[in-house]
Amino acid sequence: MRTPIIAGNWKMNNTIKEGLDLIEDLKSKELDSNVEKVVCIPFTLLKDLKDKLKGTDIKLGAQNMHWEDSGAYTGEVSPIMLKEIGVDYVIIGHSERRQYFCETDETVNKKIKSAIKHDIKPILCVGESLEDREKGKEKEIVKSQIEKALEDVENIETLVVAYEPIWAIGTGKTASSDQANDMIHFIRKTIWSLYGDTSDQIRIQYGGSVKPDNIVELMAKSDIDGALVGGASLKAEDFMDLINFKNGG
Ligand code: 13P
Repeated sequence: MRTPIIAGNWKMNNTIKEGLDLIEDLKSKELDSNVEKVVCIPFTLLKDLKDKLKGTDIKLGAQNMHWEDSGAYTGEVSPIMLKEIGVDYVIIGHSERRQYFCETDETVNKKIKSAIKHDIKPILCVGESLEDREKGKEKEIVKSQIEKALEDVENIETLVVAYEPIWAIGTGKTASSDQANDMIHFIRKTIWSLYGDTSDQIRIQYGGSVKPDNIVELMAKSDIDGALVGGASLKAEDFMDLINFKNGG
C-alpha cells in the first residue's frame, strides 16, 4: 500500500513572515496523520520553516537545486546546503523551470541522481503541453521525459513523480480524473519497464489546478497517489481540506 502524499508547491510566493503565519495556521488544524504532507517552499524560508515544523509530521521540500555539491555556480543552491537545513524533498524539473529557466531532460537527470545520492527525495515533474495533447503526442512526450530523467539512475525507491499537464497548471482547467489516472497508469508502466516491481512502490501524484472540490474524485482513482498543489496550497484552509480528502475535501 502506498502512503498518499499531498505536497504544496508555494512557487515564488510568501515572505518569511507570510510563510511562518501560514504554517502557524496550518499547525492549528487537525490533519490526517495517514497522509504524508510536504511543503515545497522558497530557499529563503527553509531554515525558519524547518524550525517551525519541529514536532509536526509536515515535511520540508525545496523547489529546485543544483546537482553539484559546491563550486562556481553563481545563484545556485547545492544538495549539501539543503541537507544541512534538513530538507526532505526537492521538486525537480517543474515545467516552469523547463519553460523559463532552460531546465532540460539532461539537467533533470543530473539533479535526480544528485538528490538520491544525498538522500533527498526527488519529486520529478513531467507533463505535456496543450499542443502536444492536441496532436495526440502526450504519452510519447511523457515517456521520453521519464526515460531521460531516469537514465542510469539507481535506487529509485524514494522517488515521487508528479504528472502535471502544462495546460492544467494555474489555469483552473484540471485534467479529468480519468485523463489523469490514465496517464499515471501509463507512467507506472513506463517505470515498470525500467525497474520491474520496484515501480509498485513509486508514488505518482497529479498536479494542475487541484482544489478542495476536485481532490476527492482524483484521489478515488486507482493509480493516483497524491497531488502536487500550487495555488490551493497557499491557503491553510484549502491545504487542510486537500490533506483531509478522506473526509470529503
Ligand atoms: P496550480 O495548482 O496552481 O495549478 O499549480 C500546479 C503546480 O504547478 C504545482 O507544482
